[in-house]
Amino acid sequence: MTDAYQNELHSRFGHDVALGDGEVPDDPWLRQVLMRRTQRRYSERAVPDSLVRLLLAAAFSASSKSDFQQASVIWLKDRARRDRLAALFPDMPWIGAAPVFLVFLGDARRLERLGALRGHPQDNGALEGFFNAAVDGALVMQSCILAVETLGLGSCPISVLRNRIAEVAPILELPDKVFPVAGLCVGYPAQQGFISMRLPLEATVHVDAYDDSGLPEAVDPYDRRRDARHSIADRQRAPERFGAADFYGWSEDKARQAMTSEGVGFATWLKAHGFALDEPGAGAA
Ligand SMILES: Cc1cc2nc3c(=O)[nH]c(=O)nc-3n(C[C@H](O)[C@H](O)[C@H](O)COP(=O)(O)O)c2cc1C
Repeated sequence: MTDAYQNELHSRFGHDVALGDGEVPDDPWLRQVLMRRTQRRYSERAVPDSLVRLLLAAAFSASSKSDFQQASVIWLKDRARRDRLAALFPDMPWIGAAPVFLVFLGDARRLERLGALRGHPQDNGALEGFFNAAVDGALVMQSCILAVETLGLGSCPISVLRNRIAEVAPILELPDKVFPVAGLCVGYPAQQGFISMRLPLEATVHVDAYDDSGLPEAVDPYDRRRDARHSIADRQRAPERFGAADFYGWSEDKARQAMTSEGVGFATWLKAHGFALDEPGAGAA
């Protein structure tokens, strides 16, 4: 049985991960991916525009559904505009402080414009158009994150933008059928950061058919492993609402977090900005 990557796998999952028999290639980049981490504090070190352009070129090398290329990015360089955006989210000061701030967009508009240019007008506001654009935007963002980390920089996605979409959209001058997937803070890390432990592959990888019957048995030890590495017992969420848990682990924390709605108003905003979110064809021009 191969014991390659055991240090990295242990860091990511908090336990030994059996890869099984057979050789696997030893790859330094993959080791880095396994050890990747979100960074929210950045040093003063400047990030040259040329480097940002290189990172964006790598980002837009991501796969794209049907080669439709329905992702766009706003590189927010204007200080005043960034400050207006950051002021909406005072509890996330990294939005204003990061050396570089990008906003990854799902862009269902461009395909419509191409249709109009070529004399084949169509409506791309069905759920299919929205979903494809969202996936493209997310793939481009994640490719950017990996490129960022490959070059020794750090980043933090910012989806909280969608929580105040009605105020964010005018700042970014978003037209209909263009929506933020997430922002991305980028800079050289000011600290090491920490590796976020992931659920065991037994809980997330299903072979041949979906089967989550083992979830309870997987989650309890996972909560304990996370707690042993980094306890959040003293940061119990809304105890006045949920009480004080004897053991406060990741699953309790996430279950409580999910009780507070996020993205309220996003669906309404999408529907007011070109997305019917219905079956394809229903709204074709
Ligand atoms: C789509 C997406 C949106 C996120 N939005 C925010 C955000 O609004 N603010 C923030 O501080 N972190 C945000 N994060 C960062 C996550 O909280 C972070 O990825 C998580 O804590 C796990 O850390 P890791 O990426 O190092 O594994 C976001 C991450 C993703 C993938």
